[in-house]
Amino acid sequence: MQIHIRAEKPPDEDAIDELLDLAFAFDSHSQQNEAHIVRVLREQGQLTLSLVAQTEQNELVGHICFSPVQIDTGNTENLSGWLGLGPMAVNPRLQRQGIGRQLIQVGLAEIQRHATGCVVLGEPGFYQRFGFKNHPDLILPGALAPFFMAQSFSGDVPSGQVIYQTAFQTT
Ligand SMILES: CC(C)(COP(=O)(O)OP(=O)(O)OC[C@H]1O[C@@H](n2cnc3c(N)ncnc32)[C@H](O)[C@@H]1OP(=O)(O)O)[C@@H](O)C(=O)NCCC(=O)NCCS
Repeated sequence: MQIHIRAEKPPDEDAIDELLDLAFAFDSHSQQNEAHIVRVLREQGQLTLSLVAQTEQNELVGHICFSPVQIDTGNTENLSGWLGLGPMAVNPRLQRQGIGRQLIQVGLAEIQRHATGCVVLGEPGFYQRFGFKNHPDLILPGALAPFFMAQSFSGDVPSGQVIYQTAFQTT
């Protein structure tokens, strides 16, 4: 299927909400609050990158976003320059057809131009394909280690605790 990946625009906002609600509806790891998280990130100006996948019929069938995270390394100042991937979603009707792959590849290529590295919480079998792996010294409090992964675009992956935007604390 021909998919066009582009940056989100204001008229996409409702379709992104609907897509996230649909894709996470039956996900037992989800609190079904992804649409709310993305809205709060947008309101707070923390959507560093938000991409949509659109069909030739202009249906919005995929979304990925990245937002800044801080890394508490134990030093006085937290490390910045890192981004968190997610949430991301593909319409369940069109999953396993390569749309998620395209969204991640375009997203990573774009953020690598500015960011130092990227973290993600999710399915290792999926994200390892794109260069993410668990680094035992980089921790997301409360997350099971294998599911929290990182990749650096410049230098080593740091040691420390990752702090996501407050938008992720909303329920
Ligand atoms: C996760 C998700 C975005 C993947 O999108 P997708 O379009 O189905 O992914 P793709 O078809 O591009 O898959 C790329 C590769 O990963 C594999 N893959 C897809 N989902 C996978 C999963 N859950 N676990 C392991 N591998 C997976 C595919 O088989 C494919 O492998 P291949 O290239 O060898 O054929 C989609 O399944 C989704 O929206 N899920 C519900 C929401 C969610 O869990 N989001 C992620 C957490 S934020």
